[in-house]
Amino acid sequence: MATSDTAAATSGVTPVPKAPLRIALAGLGTVGAGVIRLIAANAELIARRAGRPLIITAVSARDRAKDRGVDLARFAWEDDMTLMAARDDVDVVVELVGGSDGPALVLARQAIAHGKALVTANKAMIAHHGLELAALAENAGVALRFEAAVAGGIPVIKGLREGVAANKVERIYGILNGTCNYILSTMEDTGRDFGDVLAEAQAKGYAEADPTFDIEGTDAAHKLSILSAIAFGAKIDFASVDTKGIAPIKAADIAQADALGYVIRLIGMAEAGLDDTGAPRLFQRVQPHLVHFDNLLAHVDGPTNAVVVEGNFSGRLLFQGAGAGDAPTASAVVADIIDIARGMDNGFEADMTFSVPVAQLQAMASAEAGARMGRAYVRFTVADRPGVLAEITAAMRDAGVSIESLIQQGRAESEGDVLVALVTHEGPESAVARALALLDGSPSLTGAPLVMHILGE
Ligand SMILES: NC(=O)c1ccc[n+]([C@@H]2O[C@H](COP(=O)([O-])OP(=O)(O)OC[C@H]3O[C@@H](n4cnc5c(N)ncnc54)[C@H](OP(=O)(O)O)[C@@H]3O)[C@@H](O)[C@H]2O)c1
Repeated sequence: MATSDTAAATSGVTPVPKAPLRIALAGLGTVGAGVIRLIAANAELIARRAGRPLIITAVSARDRAKDRGVDLARFAWEDDMTLMAARDDVDVVVELVGGSDGPALVLARQAIAHGKALVTANKAMIAHHGLELAALAENAGVALRFEAAVAGGIPVIKGLREGVAANKVERIYGILNGTCNYILSTMEDTGRDFGDVLAEAQAKGYAEADPTFDIEGTDAAHKLSILSAIAFGAKIDFASVDTKGIAPIKAADIAQADALGYVIRLIGMAEAGLDDTGAPRLFQRVQPHLVHFDNLLAHVDGPTNAVVVEGNFSGRLLFQGAGAGDAPTASAVVADIIDIARGMDNGFEADMTFSVPVAQLQAMASAEAGARMGRAYVRFTVADRPGVLAEITAAMRDAGVSIESLIQQGRAESEGDVLVALVTHEGPESAVARALALLDGSPSLTGAPLVMHILGE
């Protein structure tokens, strides 16, 4: 653009305006309405950067009559969003409906089949069907982009695909779910319990009416599996993400972590390595962790997301920002659309959806968690009677776990129970698992123990 502008200016010829990029928008909820507002608000600068104007030609949602705070009168309306894929006045289909399967997936497949580029914010669909869609897009020679699917407004996918492209990525980890982070940091600030803070988060719109995907870690696991594919060139393997949520965390755990110099954060972490035979192994985990006050992630509060990428030449990079919300998510969606507009003249890099062609992505078996070394926080709910502490410490000793500190935390919610927490010295995770197996079924334990790993440097 700059070159042709300069040439035109020097030759005195007015450049021929490029044809607009025509968009079909499926889903007019939080993100969809945000995309309409953003394209209208920044139309001129977007047209300059994209090399052509972006125009929305058709839209679809369930309820045509709903007031969405944006003017839809200038767009064609499709009751059946899948029909947008076949429209002649559409170059790119933007899917902002959600759901791993169902109409979003039908639309995605049809858009590609009709030779349209596809932009989506749908992490569930990419985590489950991303490889299939990327292969279809590659064969059709169209672009598939999903920056908004991971960490909302944070350009972490572009960061990985482009900024870190020269690096061997060794580890990627971070805070990938704003709802959990809001709940945990509010529990920390207020001393209130999980259920209470979740109800408030729902009332304020930080948590969905059905928060299951968020609080059980599924949403973070979707995002982690997508990041792993791009970072390590691995086939997406959502099923093997070892996923635990935040519901079992009590106010007493947060207070205890604080006394020890930690906060609790839901951390998604992925590492690629080799096993003893030299075969590639992928470790993926989403779990609440203790994070030391000195770690930058301990200061990521509220609904913010943060992703750390460790490259062998770049060193440690921190991507931080709004992981959700209409404006930040729309920012990521429209950045993808701008990429596609730029690529209309120069090719879409249809084979670079996951940084390498789909056929080159490796199937990597899961790494065993037990061999990992680290420290852990273990909290027990036990009967308030003599001998219980001795039973726990004996199990730890017999399993080879070395205890750094042991804290009796006081009363649990149920009558006659107390909470006991301990922090282990560095050791294999398998040893802690062995100790818990030794205690399994003991009448001294009145609730399931909670294990949280301590995030290492
Ligand atoms: N919200 C965020 O901050 C955020 C951040 C990152 C990624 N995402 C992802 O972005 C996507 C959209 O999220 P959102 O928060 O915008 O969702 P949302 O507010 O619930 O909006 C969903 C939209 O899809 C429409 N829709 C649902 N089922 C449909 C169907 N069968 N046919 C046609 N339209 C249908 C709804 O129509 P009606 O309005 O008529 O009901 C609504 O307009 C999801 O994949 C989500 O995971 C969201």
